[in-house]
Amino acid sequence: DKANYRHFMAKEIHEQPEVVGHTLARYVDMATEKVALPAKLPFDFGAIQRISITACGTASYAGYIAKYWFERLSRMPVELDVASEFRYREAPLRKGDLAIFISQSGETADTLAALRYAKSQGLHTLSVVNVPTSTIARESETVLPTLAGPEIGVASTKAFTCQLMVLAALAVAAGKARGELSDADEAKLVRGLIEIPRLMAAALATEPQIEKLARDIAKSKDVLYLGRGTSYPLALEGALKLKEISYIHAEGYAAGELKHGPIALIDENMPVVVIAPFDRVFEKTVSNMQEVAARGGGIILMTDAKGAAEATIESLVTIVLPDMAATFTPMVYAVPVQLLAYHTAVIMGTDVDQPRNLAKSVTVE
Ligand code: F6R
Repeated sequence: DKANYRHFMAKEIHEQPEVVGHTLARYVDMATEKVALPAKLPFDFGAIQRISITACGTASYAGYIAKYWFERLSRMPVELDVASEFRYREAPLRKGDLAIFISQSGETADTLAALRYAKSQGLHTLSVVNVPTSTIARESETVLPTLAGPEIGVASTKAFTCQLMVLAALAVAAGKARGELSDADEAKLVRGLIEIPRLMAAALATEPQIEKLARDIAKSKDVLYLGRGTSYPLALEGALKLKEISYIHAEGYAAGELKHGPIALIDENMPVVVIAPFDRVFEKTVSNMQEVAARGGGIILMTDAKGAAEATIESLVTIVLPDMAATFTPMVYAVPVQLLAYHTAVIMGTDVDQPRNLAKSVTVE
């Protein structure tokens, strides 16, 4: 049931600190500050040359963020594909490498077909799924469950952040197994993960401010989302969430791509949502924001206190999120991104939990 919430989506957004916390508790040992996966892996990360990650929609954006994590923490190359492309593009795959599949429902037809293809090519298959009895879970060599609980809203929220928690733990495990991370590195990263549920709860406190900003977004025809690094796939997710539940057209772009085309769209009617924690690429994103501001575009900046202090641009509204370790910001920044889409849809009066033309589980290709 919806508890006291108006929509399942709102309930599921608010449940995230709790269910991400449950997922965390299954993947790390808090006492020793080490990753402790719930399944024994039937392969050695040291013997794997390349990881391929395949999924659809929001789950593919979790995979995209995980690509940055695996590459940074384990120095392993990662290829990311949406399942409908992976299954037909006849990618050269190496027997014994690892293929990861991400799916809330575990029934998505394209993801399942991609899994079967990888298996037929002799790859190790590992799936991150929310429904443990699903077809994808049953057919995978290894299953890493997300503990989001049933997700009812068609737009995925809590499954996404739980997927990120599982993938973050797996990336740390890979880095450790390949000798790229020391015990001290692992402990530091695990401490960062342990903080996430509390930080997500703090991020929920931005809701009243976001509700007000949603009134402006609801007046727009198009919205642009920008980010760099792991905030780039989150920008893609923000645009997807907004368009699927509010029916407002939105696009996500890597901030550095702005001047390669989309900047032509910017005028005073085009709000730009910028996801930019204060990190090593923050200054680059500030110059992108200046480019937007110079063309009259309104900016909503999701950042932390340091970022808010550095970005002194007129016409900029900042949503200030808690300070945190740079690596895992997408789990926390997902919260305001989801809330902005949700409140915009509520203002637009759409059927938030059952958006038109969409199904929770896409079992046909
Ligand atoms: C968007 C959304 C979809 C799903 C996609 C994959 O909010 O929910 O994009 O993420 O259809 O579904 P699963 O994860 O069940 O494979």
